[in-house]
Amino acid sequence: MNVQWYPGHMTKAKRQMQEDLKLIDLIIELVDARVPLSSRNPDIDQLGQNKSRLILLNKADLADERQNEAWKEYFQKRGFHVVKVDSRNGSGMKTIQNVIQEACKEKIERDRRRGIKNRPIRAMVAGIPNVGKSTFINTFAGKACAKTGNRPGVTKGKQWIRLNKNVELLDTPGILWPKFEDQQVGIRLACVGSIKDDILNMEELALWLIEHLRTNYSGLLEKRYGISEEGTAVEILGKIARARGCLKKGEELDYVKASGLLFDDFRGGKIGRVTLEWADQEKSE
Ligand code: G4P
Repeated sequence: MNVQWYPGHMTKAKRQMQEDLKLIDLIIELVDARVPLSSRNPDIDQLGQNKSRLILLNKADLADERQNEAWKEYFQKRGFHVVKVDSRNGSGMKTIQNVIQEACKEKIERDRRRGIKNRPIRAMVAGIPNVGKSTFINTFAGKACAKTGNRPGVTKGKQWIRLNKNVELLDTPGILWPKFEDQQVGIRLACVGSIKDDILNMEELALWLIEHLRTNYSGLLEKRYGISEEGTAVEILGKIARARGCLKKGEELDYVKASGLLFDDFRGGKIGRVTLEWADQEKSE
């Protein structure tokens, strides 16, 4: 689902988030490992003050492993607990259970001091559209988990998924709105398919991606399309068009079609594991 954000949407999402935050101890925030900063909305830090925080680098399978490690360190240094996950195949899920206990250590300790025993940690999943929230909830909760249903008077209208005796998850994720203050953020989000394709010019976007790939991941385009990476980005897009038979009538190269094909391949991980922004910002273009 791609959502275009208008002030009305934003206000509504924010209000919902504020309501839900009253019910929980821990925010499980999903970011896209290929664009960990661009896919975050930093407002969550303000909204989620006093909550335990866990960041999941989701779609880690599509991102460069060296950068995954760098981003993990980046967020850890800033006080977050971090786990790399692939919500589609379930890798990282076991680790999360332990990290949740670790992230909520203070709350567990506080409860113990007050004589409260066995009060489960309540968590909610949050993130921008398309980051993988539903996939994560399904995989993490699994089919075996029973929904606990409404708790009269306390969490009216809310469904909780009991993960185990220690953790309950709100079954509706918190939707954060992407932040487009910087044009680069919009470009990166568009590359990973998190904003509508018709908002940005696909050809321009393809040229940006080609430049990023050949600068930072040289050889990947060559390997995928059997082309040389010499020449300008436009020329390389032309080579991709030729290699894949993207032609208009009269043998003219179809750059739009080639751009679409490039993005299908990129988003599906067929070009390789690629990260679009660096934890070490100085290296960013
Ligand atoms: P949302 O609730 O945050 O909006 O996201 P959702 O779970 O719908 O996931 C968006 C897309 O991202 C889905 O792909 C989903 O399969 C994919 N996805 C989620 N987590 C991961 C991950 O860790 N790794 C990879 N590679 N993909 C992930 P889709 O193409 O829209 O749907 P589908 O064809 O996979 O069902």
